[in-house]
Amino acid sequence: MKLLVINGPNINMLGVREKNIYGTKTYKSLVSEIRSYAKKKHISVSVTQSNYEGDIVTAIQKAYKKYDGIIINPAAYTHTSIAILDALKAVNIKTVEVHISNVNKREAFRRKSMIKSYCAKSIIGKGTNGYLLAIDYFLKDI
Ligand code: DQA
Repeated sequence: MKLLVINGPNINMLGVREKNIYGTKTYKSLVSEIRSYAKKKHISVSVTQSNYEGDIVTAIQKAYKKYDGIIINPAAYTHTSIAILDALKAVNIKTVEVHISNVNKREAFRRKSMIKSYCAKSIIGKGTNGYLLAIDYFLKDI
């Protein structure tokens, strides 16, 4: 199984940004945690991050016929991006949405996810462990 993990803007600032909300783990250690978990589970994983909406759209387009699943945390673009939703619909790859924080218990504007309707599952508020839970979901579900 081949999974692609896509992270949106400011996720690279983990460990620096709003530690009370996102925790103290750095982005670098999150990426190595995801990689070693995938290795332990004998699956292949690629991890990418961008602060640009268009780059995220391109990453999704390039996944076409190359990946069995996408794990995506579009970060702030979650709440605004029809382009990311349309890209996911275009490639038609099973997708799990992850949010580190509990977006439902924060500002009202974070409650809306443009991609939720497309995603097979949304994992919200489980901290960075949410990415590993998303891998588990694919292992059970595909
Ligand atoms: C986030 C929640 C978003 O509202 C926010 O813009 C982020 C991260 C999360 O993982 O909790 O950057 O997607």
